[in-house]
Amino acid sequence: MLLLALESSCDETAAAVVRDGKHILSNLIASQVDLHAVYGGVVPELASRRHLEVINPLVEETLLKADIHQEDLDAVVVTRGPGLVGALLVGVSFAKAYAYALKVPLLGVHHIEGHILAIQLEREVAFPFLAAAVSGGHTHLYRVDGIGQYRLLGRTVDDAAGEAFDKVAKMLGLGYPGGPVIDRLAVSGDDGDIVFPRPMLKKETLDFSFSGVKTAVLNYLHRLKGPPTEKQVSQIASAFQTAVVDVLTQKIMRAADMENLERIVIAGGVACNSGLRRRFDQLAELTDKTVYFPSPILCADNAAMLAVAGDYYLTKGISSGLDLNAVSSWPLEQVTG
Ligand code: KG4
Ligand code: ZN
Repeated sequence: MLLLALESSCDETAAAVVRDGKHILSNLIASQVDLHAVYGGVVPELASRRHLEVINPLVEETLLKADIHQEDLDAVVVTRGPGLVGALLVGVSFAKAYAYALKVPLLGVHHIEGHILAIQLEREVAFPFLAAAVSGGHTHLYRVDGIGQYRLLGRTVDDAAGEAFDKVAKMLGLGYPGGPVIDRLAVSGDDGDIVFPRPMLKKETLDFSFSGVKTAVLNYLHRLKGPPTEKQVSQIASAFQTAVVDVLTQKIMRAADMENLERIVIAGGVACNSGLRRRFDQLAELTDKTVYFPSPILCADNAAMLAVAGDYYLTKGISSGLDLNAVSSWPLEQVTG
């Protein structure tokens, strides 16, 4: 089955052609980062307008790269939610029109389901496994017993980890998006003598809280006499990343232990973080757990990731009607296979 997948939930317009939910023929991403950077974050209205401008040429280019014609497509899958509703609507409307014109099935897919299953495009990870979805909008831990079988184990009670990276970068004048730039600065590993709190780490819960770390950074900046020097900015970024990585690794390992799961999948934009990847590499030698990170292009928002669940559901005869609508919030547990 040859699928066209479309993603427009936030600030990337993405399209992919995937065969049998496994083989990526093309996977293109039109990033809007430059458009939003001047505002220090995503401006929803601008995001929708840009999606509208680029989706048509992007799909054409994606088919060209895959060396296929639109008549070769067997179905269209699209992110239905969660995300910015105006942004989602562009992808959903385009997908509906495209599927209708081609007379092929259409399916709306959950964005986080896409992230969690992206790894399967690179290597088969057997069920069950623990999935950590760590992105700009999510920091959620799930027990995954199969496609469509998700049990929420813990989640952030305030900011998502990626959101905290973005907000701290903004405070430090490092621009948007914050994750990659903080990651770059933290490579030095020089935290100075700065130690930020690790919220909720001692508690038994598998929930997270990141707004306290962010506030601790703000308070630290207020206590400085004047703007931070370049070196201080690096040290603050590094100490912040150390705190977030500490919390993420410890809670993820705890969840896997509690659920008796041997395999762990880390997904979403924050899974690109080199400090997090390094920490799990080190841990691998000390535990019997196997930790899987998709390649960076499959961690960040992309469309190919939707094809794994898309292919599975469509093969089972599950599809969406032309009344498919975008949804800004949609708990993953409500998705069933
Ligand atoms: O999954 P994603 O591309 O979009 C959402 O679904 O939110 O994740 C975007 C988030 C942003 O907050 C961005 O700052 C963060 O992922 N991010 C990173 C890194 N690369 C992207 N965070 C930490 N380290 C990185 N290297
Ligand atoms: Zn995402």
